[in-house]
Amino acid sequence: MTADIIDGKAFAAEVRRKVGIQVAALKAAHGLTPGLSVVLVGEDPASQVYVRNKGKAADEAGIVSDEIRMDAGVGQDEVLAVVRRLNADPAVHAILVQLPLPDQVDEAAVIDAIDPAKDVDGFHVLNTGRLAVGLDAMVPCTPLGCLMMLEDRLGDLSGKRALIVGRSNIVGKPMASLLLSRHCTVTIAHSRTQDLPGECRRADILIGAVGRAQMIKGDWVKPGAVVIDVGINRIDAGEGKTRLVGDVDFEGAKDVAGAITPVPGGVGPMTIACLLANTVTAACRQAGVAVPDAA
Ligand code: GUN
Repeated sequence: MTADIIDGKAFAAEVRRKVGIQVAALKAAHGLTPGLSVVLVGEDPASQVYVRNKGKAADEAGIVSDEIRMDAGVGQDEVLAVVRRLNADPAVHAILVQLPLPDQVDEAAVIDAIDPAKDVDGFHVLNTGRLAVGLDAMVPCTPLGCLMMLEDRLGDLSGKRALIVGRSNIVGKPMASLLLSRHCTVTIAHSRTQDLPGECRRADILIGAVGRAQMIKGDWVKPGAVVIDVGINRIDAGEGKTRLVGDVDFEGAKDVAGAITPVPGGVGPMTIACLLANTVTAACRQAGVAVPDAA
């Protein structure tokens, strides 16, 4: 079997096109322009690229975005002051503080300070708690993008066995909540899991979200399974070059899986598209208007 390659770039382009239509409709009907503020602390090159891409995508969709840059040596109080200012600004509907933060800044305290209604990352405990108990919540962008690709591929997920490799707060745990809400039988595997290959081989849906290059081998994949690879790992490609790979050994898995996301070009583009969709959701909730349809 050769797996279908799930084209995250094309899928994300379609989500972004729909967001653009929704933003135009909100402007026309309510004079409402969704606003996104991104806070970037320090000079981490990967974070700078992500933040730049987020800003560009927002602009293309008609969302007003701004970027607040702070020095790597900034104190926690200064970051908290910026978050409070954004919380109080009615033109800002969505706040994203790019992670990781420098060591002297307490990430949990910063996330806790974000108004949950503007927490477009869905990282605030109020949102993670609401998601866990099945209430409306801001849903973290990466798991939301994974869910959209799974439902597009499989339709109803009810009764599917899902294995998530990785228990992070950003991906693994919210992914589990989302798949439970769709009536999957969900397992989270982590560093103490016994017989990880065996767990993988039972999964109809296999999600790699552990951050270890090519750790999940092709012969761990159940034939026909849908494999979603969240990992983005840079490895040595010889001759002084590097390349990006996922958590799944793509070359091995693509001969066994029914469908698989590539790295790059799979989950990554969906994360940004879902950030834009969440920004629209946040703006509509704050304005008390329905999210417009997008054909
Ligand atoms: N750093 C890496 N991914 C993310 C993300 O989705 N949100 C934020 N805020 N920081 C990140």
